[in-house]
Amino acid sequence: MNRKTFLYTMICLPFLSRRSAAAPSRISVYKDPTCGCCGKWAEHLRSNGFEVVIQETKDLVGYRKKYGVPESLASCHTAVVDGYAIEGHVPAREIQRLLKERPKAKGLAVPGMPMGSPGMEAAQTQAYSVLLFDGTGRSQVYQSYAAR
Ligand code: CU
Ligand code: CU
Repeated sequence: MNRKTFLYTMICLPFLSRRSAAAPSRISVYKDPTCGCCGKWAEHLRSNGFEVVIQETKDLVGYRKKYGVPESLASCHTAVVDGYAIEGHVPAREIQRLLKERPKAKGLAVPGMPMGSPGMEAAQTQAYSVLLFDGTGRSQVYQSYAAR
């Protein structure tokens, strides 16, 4: 290694390692201990690069209230990432899009438990929508998924 290469390496290494350390988004998932599909959704997030922290609870209603998720959009688990609430089986790509676009909103929800959403894999699938909701109970379609 010549002197120039050595200097370059010493200067750039700290930046490179810092960048890779900041890459994964940490997401906290609140789920009922008896629910299996929540665990499968958590695996879906992990395989898409998220750092998932699972906390089991029997009080999901309390967590929805705490993070501003309307009961009309309720699903089987509530998650929090970077200040946004994520309710239900929301695909990782919509969460990544949310974190990139950073809209003024409370978060994303897939109400209920539609067959074919991540963690709810099934032979028979149904169409569903990912909803962007705000603090007043209003929501709009963020992305639609067709039945396959
Ligand atoms: Cu579920
Ligand atoms: Cu769940």
